[in-house]
Amino acid sequence: MHPTSAEETLDRSLYPRLAARLPLAMIGRAFYPFRSLSSTQDFAKRLAADGAPDGTVVVADSQTHGRGRLGRSWFAEPGMNLLISVLFRPAVPFARLPQLSLVAAVASAETIRDLAGLDVGIRWPNDVLVGERKVAGILAESASGDGEVACVVVGIGVNVNQTGFPEEIRTRATSLAIETGGPLDREGLLGALLESLDRWYQIFLESGFLPPRAAWRRFSVTLGQEVNTSGVTGTALDMDEEGALVVLTESGSKVRVLCGELQ
Ligand code: BTN
Repeated sequence: MHPTSAEETLDRSLYPRLAARLPLAMIGRAFYPFRSLSSTQDFAKRLAADGAPDGTVVVADSQTHGRGRLGRSWFAEPGMNLLISVLFRPAVPFARLPQLSLVAAVASAETIRDLAGLDVGIRWPNDVLVGERKVAGILAESASGDGEVACVVVGIGVNVNQTGFPEEIRTRATSLAIETGGPLDREGLLGALLESLDRWYQIFLESGFLPPRAAWRRFSVTLGQEVNTSGVTGTALDMDEEGALVVLTESGSKVRVLCGELQ
């Protein structure tokens, strides 16, 4: 598939060390590195509609209309961060697709911990935090596939070398450069993130959701805390085996909050 507008500048010279290592076992059979895109999510969804393979990766150095969860926009200074979308076509029921956003949170948290040496946590459902501040976010969207296998596009935004943020998120956002005190090699980080995603995706396909769930629980900074999510207020007790957050409400009932509808 070819880009359709002038702002979409596919550049095969980006990330050469990574490109030479692709494909991994599951991820990167197709790899689309862009200088600029409207949103990696939109491009990956168009690829999905055209029948792109499981594990297709779209990366951009900048986005003009990057978006986050719940209709928010995703702000990233050009050339500073990681902006990624991965197309997954697992042979699992549609209802299980949102679990891949939790799998992606685990892979992102693990990569940031191991490469940047930071103590990271996951806030329900899939925000990666350093301390109280968000360093990476994940957005899962369903994509119209070729009609046979359901597919999902998982977008990951990691704040890597950006050191300033807009006023409205300044107190809540951080980056790896801020937390470690210096810039990081984005290509190395991207390679490690895709490797971690590749490993966790294989585990998900072969062993189901329980292993990533166990890792999510270990990273979680939400369990045991008071939450107010999807209109439910109470204490977060656990994540169940399907990926729902189990919340004990003030009235003493346990309510399951699903891990995010696919947007
Ligand atoms: C969130 O925490 O709200 C989710 C943020 C997801 C941002 C990423 S950046 C790459 C991909 N393309 C987008 O437009 N959004 C996701």
